[in-house]
Amino acid sequence: MSPFRITRTLPEDATDAALRADVLHGLTTTPKTLPPKWFYDAHGSALFELITDLPEYYPTRAEREILDARATEIAAASGARTLVELGSGSSEKTRLLLDALTGLRAYVPVDVSESALTGAGQALAAERPRLEVHALIADFTRPLELPDTPGPRLVAFLGGTIGNLLPAERARFLASVRALLAPGDALLLGTDLVKDEQVLVRAYDDAAGVTAAFNKNVLAVVDRELGADFDLDAFDHVALWDAEQEWIEMRLRSRTAQTVKVPALGLAVDFAAGEELRTEVSAKFRQDGVRAELAEAGLELAHWWTDTEGRFALSLSTVR
Ligand code: AVJ
Repeated sequence: MSPFRITRTLPEDATDAALRADVLHGLTTTPKTLPPKWFYDAHGSALFELITDLPEYYPTRAEREILDARATEIAAASGARTLVELGSGSSEKTRLLLDALTGLRAYVPVDVSESALTGAGQALAAERPRLEVHALIADFTRPLELPDTPGPRLVAFLGGTIGNLLPAERARFLASVRALLAPGDALLLGTDLVKDEQVLVRAYDDAAGVTAAFNKNVLAVVDRELGADFDLDAFDHVALWDAEQEWIEMRLRSRTAQTVKVPALGLAVDFAAGEELRTEVSAKFRQDGVRAELAEAGLELAHWWTDTEGRFALSLSTVR
């Protein structure tokens, strides 16, 4: 069995403190918001896995199609000896990359969820006796320090999760990724693309209601962690396309006028009937925009691969 190490860069109580700060800010601001990272407790992560299999939710399949077709090219272009994966989650698509990267010596999954990292990381270390697996418990939206593993490095940020960041957050994020890279290193970035509005909205408002349950789960997280009394049935799932910003927004719309208590924060939050709470932005991209955002961060787009239907893109960029 190969070495499996895990390094915590976040204090044990960081998650709790961050949740409190986000909920306090988000429920006292107008319009109300909650950040999407709080969807992913065990139940929310399981719901997201179900979403990836829904007929309407194409991004996961489209990205896997690209990885299937291009893993060898990606591996050749990067020549990586270390693969760093940001927001690794269950690391399922990673296997395609790990198999293609023939000279790979180390795999560094980075996630805020310790349980996801230990589960996936230990399994991988057991399967690949010569691969050093060094997991990092870290918030990848904050500046990171990587373990000392051999270069060149390939930093992968898959799934289109970059779309969850607002433009200013994205610029900061890309700059901090750039700071991790030395000449010869590369960034592999997954971005969902602008397309027909109906296709987009259906992907975030599926017929079986799985995305609705996923969206409402953030309320269950706040109920459990902060003792709040959100009634999940008192809110409706809303998914809409903002054509100007070119992003999907998920919201929760209060069915009635109601007051929700959040005892851990000493808060009583009034909702008007029909008032909406924004829970996620999922931005969709165009090649020119991606190239420009990368350039702004000091990165140069070197490869752009899409699935055959042109729904999703993987880009590989290098240090300028
Ligand atoms: C995991 C962030 C890529 O934005 O499409 C799925 C999350 N939200 N359905 C996305 C999500 C609603 C997903 N990401």
